[in-house]
Amino acid sequence: MLITMRQLLDHAAENGYGVPAFNINNMEQGVAIMQAAAKTRSPVIIQASRGARTYAGDKILQALISGLVQNWPEIPVCMHQDHGNSEATCMTAIQHGFTSVMMDGSLEADGKTPASYDYNAAITRRVAEMAHHGGVSVEGELGVLGSLETGMGDKEDGHGAEGKLSEDQLLTDPAQAVEFVAETKVDALAIAMGTSHGAYKFTRQPDGEILAMNVIEEIHRRLPNTHLVMHGSSSVPQELQDIFNEFGGEMPQTWGVPLAEIERGIKHGVRKVNIDTDNRLAMAGAIRKIARTQPSEFDLRKFMKPAAEAMQQVCEDRFERFGCGGQAETIKPLSLAEMAQRYRSGALDPVLG
Ligand code: G3H
Ligand code: 13P
Ligand code: ZN
Repeated sequence: MLITMRQLLDHAAENGYGVPAFNINNMEQGVAIMQAAAKTRSPVIIQASRGARTYAGDKILQALISGLVQNWPEIPVCMHQDHGNSEATCMTAIQHGFTSVMMDGSLEADGKTPASYDYNAAITRRVAEMAHHGGVSVEGELGVLGSLETGMGDKEDGHGAEGKLSEDQLLTDPAQAVEFVAETKVDALAIAMGTSHGAYKFTRQPDGEILAMNVIEEIHRRLPNTHLVMHGSSSVPQELQDIFNEFGGEMPQTWGVPLAEIERGIKHGVRKVNIDTDNRLAMAGAIRKIARTQPSEFDLRKFMKPAAEAMQQVCEDRFERFGCGGQAETIKPLSLAEMAQRYRSGALDPVLG
C-alpha cells in the first residue's frame, strides 16, 4: 500500500525510529528493498532522482512501483522525488504517482548555483502549497550539501553546488531553519552539516569538526515537531570497499557517515536517512566478483541476482539499525484525500499542528 512521507514520518517520530530512504533506478533495486522490508517488516521510502526518472522513464518507474506495491501489499511504501529542482519536476512526479516530493531550492534550477534564502523559501512554499492540496508531502532543504573538509559541493545527477562554499553555506543556520519551516510549511527539512553525496565524503573517520551533528541537535531543540532529513548518509562500509577493490575496482580509501552518528541523529529528530551509495557499492562489488571469478559467465541474471542480494543485505541492516523492524503492521495508511483534508484543517502545520 502507498503511504505519504508525512504520515510515515509522523509515525516514526511517535515511535522513535528513523526511515532509510533508498534510491531506485531499476527492478532489481526495487525488489531488493521490498524483500528487505518484508523480512524485517519495515515501512519503506523509495526515492527516485531526476537522473533515475530519465534512466528508467516515468511510465516504467510508475508501473514498477505499482508492481512492487501489489506484490508486497502488507508493506507501506512512500514514493518520493529526490532533489526536485523546480515546480515542474515536482508536479510531474506527482502526476506519476509519487506521494512525496523534495523541492530542493538550496540550489537554483540549474542545480549548481547556490540559491538565496528568498528564492529557496518562495519556490519551496509554492510547491508545498500545491502538493498539500493533493495530500502529497514535501521535503525542503536549507543550507548547501558539501564537505566541511574541502568546502566543495558535490555533483550527483548534475545536481550539486559548483565552486567553494563558505562555512555559513555548508551549515544550516538554526534560527533561519525555524523561519524557513514556518514560511514554507514543509513536512520535512534536509539539513546541511558536512555530509555530501557519493563515496568520497570524508578523508578520515569523521569527528564533530567535519560532521556537525550538533547542528541537527540544535535545530531539533528549536523545531521539535519538524522531521529532519540527513542526506549523503551512506556509511561506505570498509567491507564493501574491500570487496569492490578485491575484484578489480579502484576506490581510494574513504570514510562515510558512521551508523552510530545516524543513530544519534535519530535520537534528535532525524526521521529520514538518504542512502544510495552503499547500495550502489554493494551491487557493483557483487557484479565485479562474478565478472572476475566466472569470466565465461554471460547470463545477466547470474550477475544481477547476487547484486540484488548484496543490496538487500545493506537494506535489512539499515532497517534494523534505524528501528524500522516490525513497524509496518502498526501503520494504517491514510489516502491522499484524507491527508489533503488534514492539511486543510491546519492539523499538519509543522510549527502549530
Ligand atoms: O542525490 C543523490 C543520489 O545518490 C542520486 O544519485 O542523481 O546519480 O541518481 P543520481
Ligand atoms: P549517499 O550518496 O550518501 O548514499 O546519499 C544519497 C542521498 O543523499 C540521496 O539524496
Ligand atoms: Zn541527497
